[in-house]
Order: sequence, then C-alpha cells, then structure tokens
Amino acid sequence: MAKPTKQLFDKAKGILSEIESAEVKDKDALEKFRIQYLGSKGIIKKFFSSIKEVDPSDRKAYGQLVNDIKAKAEAKHQSSLQQPETGSSRSEDIDLSLPAEPHPLGSRHPIAIMNKKIIDIFKRIGFIVEEGPEIENDWYNFTALNIPKDHPARDMQDTFFIQRNPDILLRTHTSNTQIRVMENSKPPIRIICPGRVYRNETVDAGHHTTFHQIEGLYVDENVSFADLKQTLYFFAQKIFGKETKMRLRPSYFPFTEPSAEMDIICLICKGKGCSVCKQTGWVEILGCGMVDPAVLDNCKIDSNKYTGYAFGLGIERIVMLKYRINDIRLFFENDIRFLKQFKSAF
Ligand code: PHE
Repeated sequence: MAKPTKQLFDKAKGILSEIESAEVKDKDALEKFRIQYLGSKGIIKKFFSSIKEVDPSDRKAYGQLVNDIKAKAEAKHQSSLQQPETGSSRSEDIDLSLPAEPHPLGSRHPIAIMNKKIIDIFKRIGFIVEEGPEIENDWYNFTALNIPKDHPARDMQDTFFIQRNPDILLRTHTSNTQIRVMENSKPPIRIICPGRVYRNETVDAGHHTTFHQIEGLYVDENVSFADLKQTLYFFAQKIFGKETKMRLRPSYFPFTEPSAEMDIICLICKGKGCSVCKQTGWVEILGCGMVDPAVLDNCKIDSNKYTGYAFGLGIERIVMLKYRINDIRLFFENDIRFLKQFKSAF
C-alpha cells in the first residue's frame, strides 16, 4: 500500500472511532456534530473528495470505509435526534429510572365535604339545589319572611348593613332563597339551598361572622309536620348513624308556625350529660317549622291550598359535633395540619 494511501486509511479509521465514541448530549451538541461531520463543508465530504487520491487498487476498500463513516455518522445523528433532551449539561447524573418525587395531593375543606354529603342525602329524596345571592335586600332577608321593620325578631340576627343604603345587607341566613324560589315557581317546590351567610358577631370559639347554612323547603298540598319530622329523622340518621335519637323542641321563628328546634342525642356522652351538651344529654342541630301562611301569601302562593315546611342548619355546627371540633375559627384559618385530617373522614 502506498504511503499516502495508508495515511488516508488510518485517518479514516480514526474518524470512524471518533464518531462512534462521540457524546451528543443536547441540541447544541447535536447541531455541532452535524456540521462537523455531515455538513456541506464537513469531514465526510472531504473524505469523499479524497477517494481519488487513493491508489486505484485500494479505492474500493477505501470507498467502503468512507461509506461506513457516513452511515455511522448519520445513524448517530438520527438516534440522538430521537433521544429526549435532558436540558442539563450533566445528563449523565440523571437516573430516569428513579421513582419521581411525590406531589402531595390537597384535600377538600371539611365544610365543602359536609356540604356535598348533605346535598346528596336530600337529592336522594327528591330535593333539588337552588342558590341565592349573598348580598341581599331587606325584602328577601326580612320583610317577606314575616319580619317587618322594627320587629324585635330582627335582633335575633345581628346584621351587616351596607352603610350608605341600609336596604342592602349581607344575608343573615339562607332563608332568602326560599322567598326567591317561591316568588318564581309554583308548588310542588322541594329545594335545598346551600350557601354562605354573615352575622355581625364577636368572633369566639363558638361564633363567627361568616358561616355556612343549608336551607330546606317543601311546599305542596297536604304537607304536614309529620313529613318534616320524618325527613329530618332520615337526614340525622344518614349523617350521625342509625342509632341516632332525635327530638323536636318548640321554638320561635317569625317565618314558621309552629316552629321547632331539632336536637340529637349527645354523641360524646350518649345522653348521659357532659360539657358539650351542657349536662342535658342533647345538642341542637337545626331550626325548622311549618311555613307561616303569611310567607306563602307574600310569595303569591295560595295559603288555603298549600302548606309547607322549612328548615335551616349550620354546616359548621354539624361538622363540629361529628368530629368534636371545639373552635369554629379553625375552619377559616387554612391551617393545613387541621384541614388534611379530613382527607378520608367522610
Ligand atoms: N333561618 C333560620 C336561622 O338562620 C333557620 C330556619 C330556617 C328556621 C327555616 C326555620 C325554618 O336561624
């Protein structure tokens, strides 16, 4: 083999192993590789033009070698193109087979969980969900509910008024939605109305300015107090368990007559008497009653033909009783240590 020919062979073999061992880690390196070897002014082009310098007897073998170089370079280029980019110049440090960092899942707020649970219970017995506004006027929050101006019953609920217009207020209960729905529909009406309500209260362990209620309303012909009692009993058993005992105590609300408050047997002491139930063995969970005929009339529903019942419950109170939470403020502080305990609670 003539000397220049051997030199060309050696050089070509050197390039072949250079290509084989080249590391193409990222896009930039890949482009550099392409220009260096496969580009129009690249090494491989030069090798092709050097074929004619080789002794004719060695030309075939040399040509074969140059073709090998080209095929190797193209294959490397192609396979590097398909490799996912690591984005790091230190890709050799990244082990893609390692398990991923866990991303902790958030959890639903206990009030949201209980809200849904209660809605689901009433949906199963034919109630549909209606919602009303949190910023309300006097008519829907008070007057239509049989609480006229200057009536002492207004003191039962400390109200946030909009200073410049005392006709506008933050609703103190979800009963506003009863009126809005009754004004716009004909019986039979069977609704539950979840929502946030506001009271001008001093915040302490048992009171907050903001909390959540669910209102229930059923208006039809021949709706009786027995229907109300049975519905509430069904609800209490679903939330607190089959063994739950309940009682209805006479009470007063301007928009229901007769009115009652519902107690369930204290879950802590099972009725024996403890600090949670103030030694009575019972805890109050909601207010209810038969819709006052004056309220039906206010909504242009014939009170001679139709009767109805209504009830309103505080969601915070139910969650507190069920899970022995002794401070309502915990629901609004967004302390993750408190909230995450309810992940699988319901
Ligand atoms: N709106 C009453 C309250 O907030 C609860 C209630 C609703 C009572 C419906 C009777 C009927 O205290």
